Amino acid sequence: MATTKRFDVKDLALAEEGKRRIEWADRQMPVLAAIRKRFEHEQPLNGYRVAACLHVTTETANLMRTLKAGGADVVLCASNPLSTQDDVAAALVDEFDISVFAIKGEDNDTYYSHIEAAVDHKPHLTMDDGADVIGVLHSHRREQLGDIIAGTEETTTGVIRLKALEAEDKLGFPIIAVNEAKTKHLFDNRYGTGQSTIDGIIRATNVLLAGGRFVVAGYGWVGRGVALRARGMGAHVIVTEVDPLRALEAAMDGFEVLPMEKAAEIGDIFCTATGDKHVIRREHMERMKDGAILSNTGHFNVEIEIPALKSLAKETRQAREFVEEFMLADGRRLYLVADGRLVNLAAAEGHPAIVMDMSFANQALAAEFAVENAGKLERKVYVVPDEIDREIARLKLDTMGINIDQLTEEQAKYLASWDEGT
Ligand SMILES: NC(=O)c1ccc[n+]([C@@H]2O[C@H](COP(=O)([O-])OP(=O)(O)OC[C@H]3O[C@@H](n4cnc5c(N)ncnc54)[C@H](O)[C@@H]3O)[C@@H](O)[C@H]2O)c1
Repeated sequence: MATTKRFDVKDLALAEEGKRRIEWADRQMPVLAAIRKRFEHEQPLNGYRVAACLHVTTETANLMRTLKAGGADVVLCASNPLSTQDDVAAALVDEFDISVFAIKGEDNDTYYSHIEAAVDHKPHLTMDDGADVIGVLHSHRREQLGDIIAGTEETTTGVIRLKALEAEDKLGFPIIAVNEAKTKHLFDNRYGTGQSTIDGIIRATNVLLAGGRFVVAGYGWVGRGVALRARGMGAHVIVTEVDPLRALEAAMDGFEVLPMEKAAEIGDIFCTATGDKHVIRREHMERMKDGAILSNTGHFNVEIEIPALKSLAKETRQAREFVEEFMLADGRRLYLVADGRLVNLAAAEGHPAIVMDMSFANQALAAEFAVENAGKLERKVYVVPDEIDREIARLKLDTMGINIDQLTEEQAKYLASWDEGT
């Protein structure tokens, strides 16, 4: 199909392969498919322009199709320079007539020029994974802030940045924090990132987890998913934390908890999952064993202090695709996976579609909610309404063929009443 849209993708000849993979993912995204069907009929986004900055994957493609089915005029750019699936970008342009600006491995300048191109689309709604579109709009494209009804934010790191903007009273439009929906972070961050992070590390290194010491930094939703899956594959898992409650949870979940200083000396594989900066620093690298593998699954590639690693190295070389070897002065070699970027998206395919089904159902319904409430929301960070969250959980259970009990009238009365609560 010829496109009338503007785009910048690697190669349109990849479109057919991309389409096949998008359809494969779609089969595992029944909740989003049901929303798409309703959107086609009801056209809730008719006349609205959407600028989405998300990982350009098969699952995102199905979200873009859903928004378009609802009447939206959509443009998509990448939320990470390494996570784009070029065949998917091509298919969106060529098969689904959606503008895409994303090329896997694009340099920093191209990455930001693609975000600018999405902003050129003059969106009424933004959809971010890490708040990059919002960042551009709040810096040198402020004249467009007034045209925007609302934005949605997909990830923990983005929500933290946006809450900081809200606290300073600098948020230019309302935000719906999709990450805060239970049907998002309890499943996507934990099970989706947990599995795909292990997948990324294994694809990049072909290392055996069984019997190795696997250090997870951060025991939030992502960290606990990674720890759980690494243990499942036979690794001895060590958790590092700064929050006493979460450290306690990790200990009672049966993991060894150590400060990074100590974990650094014994770990074989490291994975940061904190959303924080320089969690693995020079002083830790100086203590690491020869052959230690360093990876990150947090949003930005700042969790491992890469400049320190570079300055410690007397030689570097590409050991494998996605694995850089740093030879230190004393002969030890440390291995950095995927440039310290989200390993599950850079070296594997990101989350399985079945969990993205819920995350992106939240995105689609949050967009509809934003339009329904246009002009009524304040310049604040909102959580996804509880009814939407519960409806998605209900639909997901339905599609999994799982039935649950209903409260009887007597039980509902008992639970709601003080007098009966004895
Ligand atoms: N790779 C992916 O596909 C993917 C998916 C979802 C979220 N994320 C990203 O993963 C990161 C973590 O997300 P989350 O939902 O688990 O967040 P979270 O807030 O639930 O957990 C982060 C944890 O890290 C801990 N922490 C902070 N600084 C630390 C330090 N210096 N050392 C050890 N622990 C530290 C915090 O105490 C917290 O428990 C974020 O950047 C998020 O955007 C990535």
